[in-house]
Amino acid sequence: MTRRTLTLLGIETSCDETAAAVVRRHDEGDGAFRGDILSNVVFSQIREHAPYGGVVPEIAARAHVEHLDGLIARALDDAKLGWEDLDGIAATAGPGLIGGVIVGLMTAKGIAFARNLPLVAVNHLEGHALTARLTNRVAFPYLLLLVSGGHSQLLVVEGVGAYRRLGTTVDDAVGEAFDKVAKMLRLGFPGGPAVEKVAREGDAARFALPRPLMGRPGCDFSFSGLKTAVRQLAEAQGDLDGRTRADIAAAFQQAVADVLADRASHAMRMAAPSMPLKARRLVVAGGVASNLALRERLETTASAEGYELVVPPARLCTDNGAMIAWAGAERFALGLTDPLDTGPRARWPLDAGTRTDAA
Ligand code: KG4
Ligand code: ZN
Repeated sequence: MTRRTLTLLGIETSCDETAAAVVRRHDEGDGAFRGDILSNVVFSQIREHAPYGGVVPEIAARAHVEHLDGLIARALDDAKLGWEDLDGIAATAGPGLIGGVIVGLMTAKGIAFARNLPLVAVNHLEGHALTARLTNRVAFPYLLLLVSGGHSQLLVVEGVGAYRRLGTTVDDAVGEAFDKVAKMLRLGFPGGPAVEKVAREGDAARFALPRPLMGRPGCDFSFSGLKTAVRQLAEAQGDLDGRTRADIAAAFQQAVADVLADRASHAMRMAAPSMPLKARRLVVAGGVASNLALRERLETTASAEGYELVVPPARLCTDNGAMIAWAGAERFALGLTDPLDTGPRARWPLDAGTRTDAA
């Protein structure tokens, strides 16, 4: 099935952002394409979860129920479109907090049924993985460093639904480590942006922290030892003054940067033979990709390996509806739509195939 232009509504509810967006994918022939974001509304539930220092799944699910309908109406309004202008509805079907995924997927199914529109059940990670095609029109294949609250992976993106994993975390995800370190340093929630902010004022050289797996073969990550080292360091310092917190945050962020750069350069070497010689690209995606210090470090590493670094704008790295609408449009363009009995999935690895009902 080939269509020149596809317009999709995208719904994202897998964690603590309730989001809806309308995105258009133009097929320009000979494999060329272009994406337009017609609207992109995100309601961040930060204030609901902040008193608990982390995301509370039941509160998240309830907040999605309360806000989603209004956000969808606003997304259509901002795009100046009606239901009749849509070609399909895309929603995150996993992985994520199951209550939230159910809210988004059921809403999408309801609309699809009532409006007689095709449903695309999107893997949230595929949303992150394909965002660089929406923002930078990146052609397949490319290397992807996916760093979010729940995932740290290096993958070769060979096509829509075609992912080859080179490495993954053996324990915590990098975003999770940022969030936990922020908690230890009492920097508040959400942790990543808070650590980045105070690290800017800190001296990364004051404290020595470990770099787990650095220099070892392969592309796996490990962050739990680093996290424990930060805990021990913070405890040993007793009452933390502002300067000490900033110095610990800076040392932690520097250790993460060193580890990511080391693992990514291994992956760039491993993937190089399967990458086009003049267009080797390293794409960074997921919430942690919005960290400017990490971006700068990866820029240097990528150019040393002969790769171009591509990072979508920060607001499209953290969870949003446009990435889901776009992944939905990419799948739809290939004829990949899903039946209305498609189930939500708490776990759904990206390299497990394209079917939403696969084990
Ligand atoms: O992709 P995302 O919005 O949600 C998931 O799918 O997990 O990523 C959220 C994660 C959180 O752990 C958050 O602390 C982290 O991304 N994050 C950051 C920054 N902004 C968000 N980590 C480091 N520096 C940042 N500026
Ligand atoms: Zn995400």
